[in-house]
Amino acid sequence: MRLLVTGGLGFIGSNFILSMLKTYQDLSIINLDLITYAGNLENLVDVTHDKNRYTFVKGDITDKSLVSEIVSTKPDAVVNFAAESHVDRSILDASAFLKTNIIGVQTLLDCCREHGVGRFVQISTDEVYGSLGPEDPPFVETNHLKPNSPYSASKASADLLVRAYHKTYNMDVVITRCSNNYGLLQFPEKLIPLMITNAIQNQELPVYGDGLNVRDWIYVLDHCKAIDKVMRDGRSGRIYNIGGSCEYPNIEIVKLILTKLKKPFSLIKYVQDRPGHDRRYSMDATRIRDELGWVPSTGFEEGIDATIKWYIENESWWRKIKSGEYLDYYEKWYGNL
Ligand code: NAD
Ligand code: DAU
Repeated sequence: MRLLVTGGLGFIGSNFILSMLKTYQDLSIINLDLITYAGNLENLVDVTHDKNRYTFVKGDITDKSLVSEIVSTKPDAVVNFAAESHVDRSILDASAFLKTNIIGVQTLLDCCREHGVGRFVQISTDEVYGSLGPEDPPFVETNHLKPNSPYSASKASADLLVRAYHKTYNMDVVITRCSNNYGLLQFPEKLIPLMITNAIQNQELPVYGDGLNVRDWIYVLDHCKAIDKVMRDGRSGRIYNIGGSCEYPNIEIVKLILTKLKKPFSLIKYVQDRPGHDRRYSMDATRIRDELGWVPSTGFEEGIDATIKWYIENESWWRKIKSGEYLDYYEKWYGNL
């Protein structure tokens, strides 16, 4: 099998490439990534030597001639992870989000159609459904889309485009919508790696609002296995929710991390809330379980221990990131709140 993976230097994409190349010998992957602030060549050092099975191309998914050239090699599937993915950044400036997350998807779809690529897999998110109240049932695939941030609006737009290309051109597409991932190689602007690395550095842990917003956590490698199942056996034109059935309020996650690292709760600092902050996400993943036999296999305790251990052992990876451009972003974000 030959795959084109886009955005494979980011958190989930690099975990996907590493786990797929480890699991399947008869697989080769082209990874197209722009290397934005979130892309990191170091994430894939373990496979860069494997020239027969792994090829890296630096480039933009909105660059039609480049994408067309790559797609003309007719991979069996295109798996699109490439995106601007951080909600807070989208609140500061939505431009890159609309360009990559919408125009990028249109470009990929057009090139796949032009060259008759097998299957297009769009990696989407639970955030397209909007926000739940405390007693609401989890999101199902038939829920209306009610995105609340520029990020989630751009992802919802992409989902609608993917659906439209299936209906209009009969393209073979599938969409996955997953809840919050955590695990190794996650950029330390997101809640769990930010809290772990700040705690290690004895810095304040900024908790938005009352800290009671709820997320449904999934270990990244469980998400990767689900994507593999959907890519191979998902029904064309279908959406599959993916979730960990593991809801926690943010403050509990933060306290758990501090406890595990033996750091004081006095490091917690409540800060102004994120504008438009979704209160709760929860996924109903019955469809993928019943149709494709997927269930998550990593418990939260096991996953968070492995994650904390990885950040302790890979301090040089995140210390490099937590300087330079990243600090500029932080100044802007806290100036904005
Ligand atoms: P990430 O920000 O860690 O990585 C994104 C990658 O895309 C980076 O390597 C970046 O360089 C690349 N990229 C950005 N713009 C590009 C462009 N124009 N052309 C080519 N490459 C480009 O993101 P992530 O957390 O790994 O998320 C991957 C995908 O999964 C996204 O589509 C996101 O919406 C979705 N998702 C993420 C989560 C989560 O919890 N992180 C949950 C559900 C869905
Ligand atoms: O649900 C899936 C989504 O999960 C993905 O589509 C996004 O790409 C991904 O970034 C993530 O979005 P969230 O906004 O849920 O993740 P984030 O890690 O930014 O925030 C998680 C929760 O923690 C959220 O309620 C905001 C809160 N938070 C976050 C940060 C960075 C804080 O309280 N303090 C912080 O410093």
